[in-house]
Amino acid sequence: MTRILAITNQKGGVGKTTTGVNLAASLAAARRRVLLVDLDPQGNATMGSGVDKRNLQATVYHVLLGSHGIPETKLRSEKGEYDLVPANRELAGAEVELVAMEHRETRLKEALAAVAQDYDFILIDCPPALNLLTVNGLTAAQAVMIPMQCEYYALEGLSDLVQTIKKVRAHLNPTLEIEGLLRTMYDPRNMLAQQVSAQLVEHFGAKVYRTVIPRNVRLAEAPSYGVPAIEFDRNSKGAQAYLALAGEMLNRAGG
Ligand SMILES: Nc1ncnc2c1ncn2[C@@H]1O[C@H](COP(=O)(O)OP(=O)(O)OP(=O)(O)O)[C@@H](O)[C@H]1O
Ligand SMILES: [Mg+2]
Repeated sequence: MTRILAITNQKGGVGKTTTGVNLAASLAAARRRVLLVDLDPQGNATMGSGVDKRNLQATVYHVLLGSHGIPETKLRSEKGEYDLVPANRELAGAEVELVAMEHRETRLKEALAAVAQDYDFILIDCPPALNLLTVNGLTAAQAVMIPMQCEYYALEGLSDLVQTIKKVRAHLNPTLEIEGLLRTMYDPRNMLAQQVSAQLVEHFGAKVYRTVIPRNVRLAEAPSYGVPAIEFDRNSKGAQAYLALAGEMLNRAGG
């Protein structure tokens, strides 16, 4: 059974891409077959996977517009040991072009259906917006993983995302669930972070992953070498946290 997860938060810089790359590598390290889909014109997941976004033959843009399938588009992250559907700034034009097309919200879902049986996990790194790209991600996914920083406005932003999830459920993907909320860049000495974290657990209970991702400079450094943190510095706190997250997900799923 393939698990398809959209990593989403319309707030920028909360750790979506860091989570996509490092979770993909951590699940691959647990011998799961993983596909990471970069659905962001910034192409950060692509670069972080060791693939140069500037010279690509085909990207997720071509997949969404229907000229290419995923088998001709996917590349291998050699260091991460997972497959990648790359993206670059060309994708920014997709939104405008898609508006005129039929089934514009289900394009990614249809493309993934053709390859889903080849993977145990498909992770979709969404852009920081509740736009048509993100709607494609939410429509293709079985569940949403929400990385968030425990700061003052985090809970407010969460309610906008929950509204969008409800809309997608009503119109496009009735079984879409919240897979989990992931506390990222966590500093346990920060009182506000502790308070927001406690509120999060109060509201969302067991949906909040027990694993917390600490603020760790190795996680920020690894992308400039195009490798996941478990490859860059396996013993760093950040790498260990993502390995633990993969373990928690696999345990939750019963294996
Ligand atoms: N746990 C962490 N500790 C330290 N730095 C981190 C951590 N997680 C992410 N970062 C850094 O914070 C920045 C934002 O992270 P990232 O790109 O993963 O966020 P994002 O949500 O994908 O951003 P965007 O919304 O722009 O796509 C990056 O420079 C990243 O290296
Ligand atoms: Mg990102």
